[in-house]
Amino acid sequence: MAYIPEDKLLEIKDAASLEEVVGQYVKLSRRGRNLVGLCPFHADSKPSFTVALDKGIFYCFGCGAGGNVFSFVMQYHRLSFPEAVEELARRYGIPLSLRDLGPQGAKAGRKRQLFYDLHAQAAAFYRQNLEGPAGGPARDYLRRRNLTPEIIREYQLGYALPEWDSLRRHLQNKGLSLELAQEAGLLVARPGGGYYDRFRDRVMFPIADRTGRIVAFGGRVMGDGEPKYLNSPESPLYSKGRLLYGLPQAAAALRQADLALVVEGYLDLLALKVHGIHPVLATLGTALTREQARLLKSLASRVVLVFDGDAAGAAAVRRAFPLCAEEGLAVRTLPLPAGLDPDSYVQAHGPELFISAWDNAQPMFAFLLEGLIQTHGMDIDGRVRLLAELRPFFQALKDPVEQDLWLRFTAGRLGVEEGSLRLSLAAPVSPTASPPENRRLALSLEKRLVKWVLQNPQGLNLEELEEWAQEFDNRELKEILSLIIDCCRKHGNLDVGLLIQRAEEEEQQRQICALSLGEAEFGAPAADTAAGDWRRALLRRRLRKAEAALKEKLTTALADPENAELPALLAQSQEIQRKIQSLKSEDAGKGEDG
Ligand code: UTP
Ligand code: MN
Repeated sequence: MAYIPEDKLLEIKDAASLEEVVGQYVKLSRRGRNLVGLCPFHADSKPSFTVALDKGIFYCFGCGAGGNVFSFVMQYHRLSFPEAVEELARRYGIPLSLRDLGPQGAKAGRKRQLFYDLHAQAAAFYRQNLEGPAGGPARDYLRRRNLTPEIIREYQLGYALPEWDSLRRHLQNKGLSLELAQEAGLLVARPGGGYYDRFRDRVMFPIADRTGRIVAFGGRVMGDGEPKYLNSPESPLYSKGRLLYGLPQAAAALRQADLALVVEGYLDLLALKVHGIHPVLATLGTALTREQARLLKSLASRVVLVFDGDAAGAAAVRRAFPLCAEEGLAVRTLPLPAGLDPDSYVQAHGPELFISAWDNAQPMFAFLLEGLIQTHGMDIDGRVRLLAELRPFFQALKDPVEQDLWLRFTAGRLGVEEGSLRLSLAAPVSPTASPPENRRLALSLEKRLVKWVLQNPQGLNLEELEEWAQEFDNRELKEILSLIIDCCRKHGNLDVGLLIQRAEEEEQQRQICALSLGEAEFGAPAADTAAGDWRRALLRRRLRKAEAALKEKLTTALADPENAELPALLAQSQEIQRKIQSLKSEDAGKGEDG
């Protein structure tokens, strides 16, 4: 883990609101002291995801994901630790110098900044080309595609010149690293040394991340050349499956409409924008991914898929549906006439269909059913085959009432009897591995003790805790207890969020979260009484261990009447028995004096 001073981390952690950071992606509601919601890290059907604001941690009782605010940003956006720290520092206005990131983190941070600079410079260059004397053909092309100057400006469209090295020369003049530009896919290395431009004579579509920084480009030929689009390669800072085109421009409209139209192409999106349809995003030449579905979830609760009116579009819709549903999105599709995409549709028929997109859209199930009927036909064989394909989609419906309504709809449409259809469609899903949430682990004494410490950190006696830690058998729990002691020593209290920071292993972080948030099996007794209980419990365990060890020795010793140690062993045994007895009477008397 990169070195970042702990004080700095603490400052950022305390400035960043866990509720706000998580709440941006997960709908949270209050439950007792905590907030709960659907877990963004697995397909969650009941709110298993818990955020403990007082402790500064989150934990999912379904999949075991857990950690503090840094862990959340890391896991959700798949960032490295220093990246997550940087991101939060930036968002919450905590100055963080590259020095704070340590040598490795600083190097990565500098590289990221250069990567953004390169893309910003390239985008500006392409834009300038489009506006300049050489941009005539590109301007004509965009005009033919009915794009307005406003939209061209808003989406920062540009033009890559036909020359082999115009961008290369431009970047060089700006003193930027050509090597990095090559790594980012803007330049291509020549076998004999040197670089040339990847994008030549293409209309350029900059792709921005959710904060509006340009991280990639798509470039379209202006005729029928191949490939139609050339795209930036995947890199640590750009992954097409994790972004959606048009995000910063659409963000406000998405929130306002609580709806996202998702199209397949850059030009589909831009055509809709020209016609006044704003809450639109485009996938980047891939099938919708789970990450994109999650991203959508953080932007709006309803999605309308508007894919091309062809077999590929329908297949993409079928794949996207369960993904969206599993993320808890309400999802519909707006099927387009065969051969049309949103762009050609809106050019031919205007935007009416899209203005009330949600109302005009088909619920997924109806769409699927119609598609399957078309594929398989309505004869007996066909209906049997289509039911088999329908089954997983039916079972992906979460709401039993919704399931019931679609069951009736399907029965009517297929002309089959409802009861048998129910049996067919609701046939139990193949048993999946049951999540650990119901695993009532028999907690060991050590585990219970650490849990108690985490949940009752007030007034801990650190010296005593240290003694206890010595006795621990379980290495992981012993380590956690040592971390707790360390943390308390340094900061005077137990900050679980910070504790997580200190735990190096993700597994350990998860365990800390699980123990911190796991149901308390103890009321909240006064700290000193409970400490006494643990002390006795540990003593009892110590005595039992000693008793067992002695028994073994005694058995060997008794087999040999000459054994000289026998009297001492017997005395020890008596002593242990006496202690066990006194502990028992202490336990019995506890109710009266405690
Ligand atoms: P389309 O072929 O539907 O392109 O691909 P389009 O955006 O509608 O463009 P026009 O209307 O034909 O000019 C949809 C998306 O798939 C990706 C691009 O993101 C494109 O916008 N794609 C397509 C590629 O990445 N490479 C290709 O060669 C083709
Ligand atoms: Mn198209």
